[in-house]
Amino acid sequence: MVRLSLAALAISALAVLGAVNPLEHRGNKDPLHDEDTYIGVINATPYRWARGYINRYQVSGWVWPEYIDPGESFQLLAERRNGFFSQDSAAEVDYHLEGTSKPMSFQVQYRKGYPHKVWVAFKEELETMNNRKGSQHKLGFLRMPGGVGFVLAGTEGHFISNDPPITWMRDTLPDIGHIPLRELSLPRSHHAGMWKGVAPIGAGCTSNTLTQDDDLYNQLGNGGIRVLDVRATKWHGHFRESHASEVKGLGWQGMFGAGVHEMIDIVNDFTAEYPGELIIFDIHEEARNADDRFDKLDELETAELYELLQLLNHRISVPDNEDLTKWPLERFIGNGTTAVLVHIKKSWLPLGGFPGGEEGFVSNKNFPFWGRWSDKNHVDEMIADQLEQLRSHQTHRNSKVWNTEWTITQHTEDIIWPDESIMKMNWPAWRSLYHEFWDALTDEVYPNWLTMDKVHHNQQKALVMAINHCLAARKCGSLGGKVNMTAAE
Ligand SMILES: *[C@@H]1O[C@H](CO)[C@@H](O)[C@H](O)[C@H]1NC(C)=O
Ligand SMILES: *[C@@H]1O[C@H](CO)[C@@H](O)[C@H](O)[C@H]1NC(C)=O
Repeated sequence: MVRLSLAALAISALAVLGAVNPLEHRGNKDPLHDEDTYIGVINATPYRWARGYINRYQVSGWVWPEYIDPGESFQLLAERRNGFFSQDSAAEVDYHLEGTSKPMSFQVQYRKGYPHKVWVAFKEELETMNNRKGSQHKLGFLRMPGGVGFVLAGTEGHFISNDPPITWMRDTLPDIGHIPLRELSLPRSHHAGMWKGVAPIGAGCTSNTLTQDDDLYNQLGNGGIRVLDVRATKWHGHFRESHASEVKGLGWQGMFGAGVHEMIDIVNDFTAEYPGELIIFDIHEEARNADDRFDKLDELETAELYELLQLLNHRISVPDNEDLTKWPLERFIGNGTTAVLVHIKKSWLPLGGFPGGEEGFVSNKNFPFWGRWSDKNHVDEMIADQLEQLRSHQTHRNSKVWNTEWTITQHTEDIIWPDESIMKMNWPAWRSLYHEFWDALTDEVYPNWLTMDKVHHNQQKALVMAINHCLAARKCGSLGGKVNMTAAE
């Protein structure tokens, strides 16, 4: 799972990788595109959307289809074309939901400003969970090749959209509580503790090690993250998240991030304020001791880590000999109580006095999951690989829990351009989430864990809620054939 590249290597890499064509690589770095963003919308309702009012002023690419059918996504590149300094270009389009009992519509807006921001304004009688009539939703701006997305899912009176509630699990429990974990989808953040870098390892720097913008509280809150990818490294007598890898001839390179204790405190603060959610601390098996040549944790150190993790509140007692992924969600949080699980890999079981299910510690033995990391630095290759893997492993909806890693990985040549940080590289992952990713899903084929870098706003959460509502719970109609409505009855 090595994905780091480092500044020190850049110089030698320049020499070695003579084949890299700088102009080709810079491709869309043209400043002309600095104000451009992709906008994606998903119709996860049984109602066809009909285009109404449309207007644009000094914006090109603002070409919306007359209709967007149930199940469909649509995406365009909004391009501001009025010179570099003027900020008053703008564009809007209305869509009306056909066949609802009351008139409902929304407007997608590309608002003036610097940069322009994308908003969605609800009109007429449209309201969604957590969002009143007339509410306005800021999707933000993610420079091309990045983009923003809007989803409307469900039926009249039971709509889900962007800006869902913080306590999204508790609030959707009546709809999804009966569904086993292996048929639900949960948002997962890649290297949850790498929203800050506190100290370099070798020549690592923030641009090639940080994977997150938002701190853990906001990842859990607005971001809706419920599975935390945590890599614990022992350093100066305590455990920290780290993002590092061994580079031949140069030793370990990377950075230390948040403290594991600090992350536990944040999760405890969150569960105290927002009870009733299921949170999984997914400890990566690559745990090492930085003070001891980055050797893997030994027996004693593993025991120390287990002791620390027992500071997590609301760990739920579970059996060691059942497949917990077959348990419905309500069996974990059905009483409005929080449930926290600590997940480790099976390879750790013989080490360090594993506390076991009684203490809320599980392993692949009673909580099996798998997934695949693509190691692709190009979005199209990542998409092709992830979708192929998803289809071949999720042969039906109750297959073993599958983790889709919707992330783009830096390769050595990417670091020649120092502005290609991990987070910027992941802009197109966010763009494609509301288009190619959604288009590939059906009620039998969808990931259980959706892992992203740079969790920001709530577009990952909103999409996962739509997957759960429409594909897992089958409550949005057939969506143009995505969902088998016979099975829904
Ligand atoms: C919910 O409450 C019932 C009755 O108090 C209890 O038996 C059950 O174990 C609780 N379930 C959870 C998930 O806490
Ligand atoms: C739809 O679901 C029904 C009931 O579960 C099943 O018998 C049928 O084979 C499914 N159809 C398809 C096309 O999968």
